Order: sequence, then C-alpha cells, then structure tokens
Amino acid sequence: MKLGFIGAGNMAGAIFKGIIASGAEKAQNIYIIRNNRSLQDKQAEELGVVSCDSYDELIENSDIVFLGIKPAGFPALLEQIKDKLEMHKPLVVSMAAGMSMQSIQDMLGFKPSLIRIMPNINAEILMSATAYCGNSNASSEHLDIVKNYLNAIGTAYEVPEDKFAVFTAIAGCSPAYVYMFIDALAKGALKLGMNKQQALDIAAQAVMGSSAMYKKSGLHPAELTDKVCSPGGTTIEGVCTLDEYKFTAGVVKAVENSVIKDALLNKK
Ligand SMILES: NC(=O)c1ccc[n+]([C@@H]2O[C@H](COP(=O)([O-])OP(=O)(O)OC[C@H]3O[C@@H](n4cnc5c(N)ncnc54)[C@H](OP(=O)(O)O)[C@@H]3O)[C@@H](O)[C@H]2O)c1
Repeated sequence: MKLGFIGAGNMAGAIFKGIIASGAEKAQNIYIIRNNRSLQDKQAEELGVVSCDSYDELIENSDIVFLGIKPAGFPALLEQIKDKLEMHKPLVVSMAAGMSMQSIQDMLGFKPSLIRIMPNINAEILMSATAYCGNSNASSEHLDIVKNYLNAIGTAYEVPEDKFAVFTAIAGCSPAYVYMFIDALAKGALKLGMNKQQALDIAAQAVMGSSAMYKKSGLHPAELTDKVCSPGGTTIEGVCTLDEYKFTAGVVKAVENSVIKDALLNKK
C-alpha cells in the first residue's frame, strides 16, 4: 500500500518512521511533502522515502493520504488539494487535534472516505496510544488497514468521535501528568538525600514496571494497590497520604479541565 504524508514534522514524521521501523510498510511506499524542501529531501535521503514535488504527485501515488499539518493550515491546504482528492479518491486520514471530520468535509466540499486519528508523542518510540474513528464512507476494511498501521506505532483504540477530547486528555495530555508524577517522586527522594538523577531513573523505571504489570496481570488498579499494601506497612501509609492530599480528585479535575479547554480552543 502507498502512503502519502502532507506534512512531515514531529507527529507525521514519528508515524511514518514508526511504520517503516516496524516493517509495516516499506520506505519506498511512503511519499512525503512539506514546506521546507531541504528538510524534505534530507528525510527522503535518510529514510528512503519518496520526496514529492507537488501535492498532485503525492495524491496520485497514494492509496492513503495522511494530513499531518497543523489545524490552522487546513483551510488553505484543503482548498488546494480538494479537486485532486475528489478525482483520485484516496482514503484520507487526519491527525489534526480538535478538528472534526465534519469540518474537514465542509472544507473539502465533498465527503471522502475519512478517518480521524489522535496519536500521542510516544509514537516516536512506537508506544503511542492512538484513537481512531471513521466517517460513514470509511469501510471496515479502511478502518482495519489504518488500525494495523497504528498498531505498528503503539496500540490503536477505536473511539467514537464525541469521545476524542476525553481520549486526548488521558492519552495526549497525560504524558505531562506522568512526567510530573515521576518528578514529584524524585523530589521526595531528593529531599531525603538521594541524588536527583538516580531518583528520576528509579521513579521512571517503577512507573514503567507498574504500567506493564497492570497490562499483564489483567487486575484492576485497586486490586494491584491492595496487593502491595501490607497491613500497617509503609505503602498504605503513602497511599493514605495521597488520598489525604486529594491525589485522585486532582487527577480527575485535570482530565475534566483538559476537556473543557479543548472545547474552548475549538470554539475559536
Ligand atoms: N505533536 C503532537 O504531539 C501531536 C499529537 C496529536 C496530534 N498532532 C497533530 O499533528 C499535526 C502536526 O503536528 P506536529 O506537532 O507534527 O507539527 P509540526 O512538527 O510543526 O509539523 C507540521 C508539518 O506540516 C508541514 N506543513 C505545514 N504547512 C504545510 C503545507 N501547506 N503543505 C505541506 N506541509 C506543510 C510542516 O512543514 P515544514 O516543517 O517543512 O514547514 C511540518 O512538516 C497537527 O495537526 C497536530 O494537531 C500532534
């Protein structure tokens, strides 16, 4: 399958690099175009992907066209490529944050087979949690094809479009929350005399192991918490302290406020 990427920056770049690294698609089947021609040619040379001279060339060669530019650039870009998309009929995949499929269809003036995805930054290390959903012209085969590519850069989750903002809060924003948690653990250790860098490494390893254990065990997080709390021990002391300082309530509020902010930003 031939994949075209309009925009080849942080996210689109992470996706096609991940797809190539995982072996899900050969580099010579990836077509790219971006504004900066010298960066584009450098990427093509380094990765073996095809550097395109025009949107037309990219669309004509692609079974799937990924839109990897910032949302603000969509109106101008879609105006330029809509006729070619309507003629060639590739599957269109948008990764634009906060941009609904309806708004893309409105800008195009027709209804392509369209899939919306929401990857997160961990795509760079093939560990993205990525949401996807399709419009009524996207077949189950289309969804499966895209899901397979997304699984090459992490794990794909089919999420209804009206839950994309919630997904973004718990998968797109949460890396920042987790980094704060790791840093907070290390600060605690630093306060008690441990070297900060060593404490950060230890905290990050503990978070990674706990996440892997949750996924492997199939147990509810509350059961896993109970398993590590011995009666009258140190862990339950810390757990109760986190409750006292409203850890859960703070995280729940952070998710809610991220979703509220998403709605505010997308009204502008
Ligand atoms: N970064 C994230 O964590 C993340 C997460 C989820 C979703 N997203 C979404 O991913 C999309 C890209 O974000 P990003 O962070 O990857 O931004 P980015 O690093 O700035 O990349 C944007 C890319 O678009 C290219 N571009 C801009 N206008 C173009 C045009 N008219 N024609 C062709 N290429 C054009 C840029 O080219 P030049 O650099 O050559 O100018 C650049 O390669 C956004 O819609 C964003 O909402 C990002």
